[in-house]
Amino acid sequence: CGIIGYIGHRNAQDILLNGLRKLEYRGYDSTGIAVVTDQGMQVEKAQGRLAVLEGRLRSRPLHGRIGIGHTRWATHGGPSEVNAHPHKDREGKISVVHNGIIENYLPLKEELQSKGYSFVSETDTEVIAHLLADLYDGDIVSTVRRAVKRMRGAYALAVLCSEEPDKLIAVRLASPLIIGIGRGENFIGSDIPAILEYTRDVYILNDGEMAVLTNDGVDLMTIEGNLITREMVYVDWDVQTAEKAGYDHFMLKEIHEQPKAYRDTMGARINESDSRVILDEVRLTAEQLRRIQHIQIVACGTAYHAGLVGRQVMEQMVRVPTTVEVASEYRYRNPIINEHTLVIVVSQSGETADTLAALREAKRQGARVIAITNVVGSSAAREADDCIITWAGPEIAVASTKAYTTQLIVFYLLGMHFAQLMGTMDRSSIVEILKHMRQLPEQVQALLDQSERVRATAERLAEHEHLFYIGRGLDYAAAQEGSLKLKEISYIHSEAYAAGEMKHGTLALIEQGTPVIALATQTEVMEKTISNIIEVRARGAYVIGIAAQGNEELEKSVDEVFYIPRTLDLLTPALAIVPLQLLAYYAALARGNDVDKPRNLAKSVTVE
Ligand code: G6P
Repeated sequence: CGIIGYIGHRNAQDILLNGLRKLEYRGYDSTGIAVVTDQGMQVEKAQGRLAVLEGRLRSRPLHGRIGIGHTRWATHGGPSEVNAHPHKDREGKISVVHNGIIENYLPLKEELQSKGYSFVSETDTEVIAHLLADLYDGDIVSTVRRAVKRMRGAYALAVLCSEEPDKLIAVRLASPLIIGIGRGENFIGSDIPAILEYTRDVYILNDGEMAVLTNDGVDLMTIEGNLITREMVYVDWDVQTAEKAGYDHFMLKEIHEQPKAYRDTMGARINESDSRVILDEVRLTAEQLRRIQHIQIVACGTAYHAGLVGRQVMEQMVRVPTTVEVASEYRYRNPIINEHTLVIVVSQSGETADTLAALREAKRQGARVIAITNVVGSSAAREADDCIITWAGPEIAVASTKAYTTQLIVFYLLGMHFAQLMGTMDRSSIVEILKHMRQLPEQVQALLDQSERVRATAERLAEHEHLFYIGRGLDYAAAQEGSLKLKEISYIHSEAYAAGEMKHGTLALIEQGTPVIALATQTEVMEKTISNIIEVRARGAYVIGIAAQGNEELEKSVDEVFYIPRTLDLLTPALAIVPLQLLAYYAALARGNDVDKPRNLAKSVTVE
């Protein structure tokens, strides 16, 4: 989500809308602004893109010199006008916009309800507005401080109070927020692009800090109320760079966001105290699950590749026969679907026409459908019986990265959730897997820190026209995704092959110098994979190995090797894909391609 706030001498609405336009890449399912006008607090909001809100404000403009705005990417509560921010208290005295999550919003909501506050939205943000109104004693700054002490979670806030229209308040508790300094005007932004048009002088708030903005100045303080002095930062980025948080492309930014995306997706779904998986959003009971005889995973593109890993996870953890199929094929071959079938559709956008057609067909024939999607309130999320959200955040680059890896995380969690219900795994195995999953974010970070080496290899690969990815088992699944990434953005032809299948035909294509990227992380089939590597190398292939740290044996059979941190075989795709994403990215870059918007492709394909 994106936050903007303004106090000064200009028309607030214009500045808020401009800021929101720059923040649309942070989320775009609904937008809204609140302005203190002569008539008091006025709020306008709309579901959908910013253009909808702009249309409304054109006929009913809000006139005032102080306001806050928000563009939303739904978390608590689907995208809708009521759930859009800003949220206000019942008297319309206080309004707030918010990014992040208030973890204890339910008990707070119950407490406020018992005091007579009624809620109109499903959001955790509305709790903040009522809580502030309940605590308000004529001093909004101290009221915010007292409210913040009661709210747990990672969030950022901007607060507006119509009774004190000479101040704007910003609070940061672990969700980015910056303060822009102008002349006779000041700004709040969740991100630099929101305010870059107006000022380049900013304060960056740290966790646990707040700012009180007036026309003429900004006071920075801790949430305990102790004043802080801070150096102003001068931003010399252009708007485009700023949107990408300093990265050259959204794809690179999104690759680097994966440690956070992993943490967010696992988050509250792993109960630390007893090492159990909690997936309350899946309402399938143990009894219903026992009647399932067949799991069908259906998806397109990258999501299909996540499904390939999902199949192995489901069969291994739940012991139910599982198939994976691309959605455009599934529906038209008259698949066997009945009330004993569980269909899992996977879709980043939740709007892919092929996937939705499969979902509807499966439901029509009586299957139970679970959707794994990144977009709250998307068609897949609404139409499936159960929906699990991947908390990757908005993905802008056409080539999917963090959506894929968080889909893997969801499959692991879902597998263990089912195993808990069915008793198909012993406790110790679940504890062991969770222990390793918690290490993944740091391990991904370690891989990202080696980008420069991957880059050097990618630049050499960029000179080739054909290459191969090989692997066995889950390595084969990750190889397919790695190969797709390369094709999508570098336009180099590549093929992913099951390592043991090369010798049955495709080996004929190996010539002197043909690059082969060989994934060799699966310990059970290690020797067999090494034999396959030797087969291609003997025909002249230049082999780049991907192996687990400590597997020095492989070095003897390959030309170069990238190591990934050690983890369980089952979890390796969540790490092995990272160097492959970087390899594709840097190869595309070396070829001078438009990385974020590759030719012929669309982020979301809504035709069959
Ligand atoms: C498009 C995109 C792919 C994506 C596929 C499925 O083809 O270019 O990157 O994997 O659609 O999208 P979904 O939103 O359903 O995951």
